[in-house]
Amino acid sequence: MNDESHQGPYIEPIEDGPLRYRRGSDPDRQGTLSGPDRTDIPIRDSALLCRCGRSERKPFCDGSHVASGFSSAKKWKPGAGRLVDHVGARVTIHDNRALCAHVEYCVLELPSVFDRSKRPWVDPDGATAEEIIALCRKCPSGALSCTVDGVLYRDYDERPPTVIASAEGPYFLQGSIEVAGEPFSEGHSTEHCTLCRCGESRNKPLCDGKHWDVGFANRED
Ligand code: FES
Repeated sequence: MNDESHQGPYIEPIEDGPLRYRRGSDPDRQGTLSGPDRTDIPIRDSALLCRCGRSERKPFCDGSHVASGFSSAKKWKPGAGRLVDHVGARVTIHDNRALCAHVEYCVLELPSVFDRSKRPWVDPDGATAEEIIALCRKCPSGALSCTVDGVLYRDYDERPPTVIASAEGPYFLQGSIEVAGEPFSEGHSTEHCTLCRCGESRNKPLCDGKHWDVGFANRED
């Protein structure tokens, strides 16, 4: 499909280059771009968004990816990026570590279920189904989802399409913004995900939390 024909906003990861973000042609689903403080960043019909982490004009590309030799290739080992099921009495929690952006809502807000000091680190019987559903929906990367009584809970309903350039990490996408390219890791959400903008993810175009290791920060310099 030609990307000009998309009704809603659309992101095309350019090989070894930035993300091309096109606003939607549908007036009700044009999409917005905002900065870390959630204020809108005006753009026309499209914009090139930095994903090498080196632009001096973040979130926009300034061509720095060329001089830095940025590569958009995935670096996952075979078998990485699998969905793991943690099966409880009523709730099954699905987890794909390759998608995780390390925002940490899970360990901070529901430590009775998500505890990295334990093995396995997920206890699907550690909270009510309602609490786990709410937490999984809040997971911005889509790494976590759950099934309760045979119903899959992964996505929010009807959120406006938005791209948020976060302060120290990835682009947060929500509202079913289409991203071109290959199928992503198992169990990913089509309603929300996080895209790398530090340049270091091993699972590009998705964020895999590597921005933590490299100390990436949104410097508006
Ligand atoms: S922004 Fe998260 S790995 Fe690059």
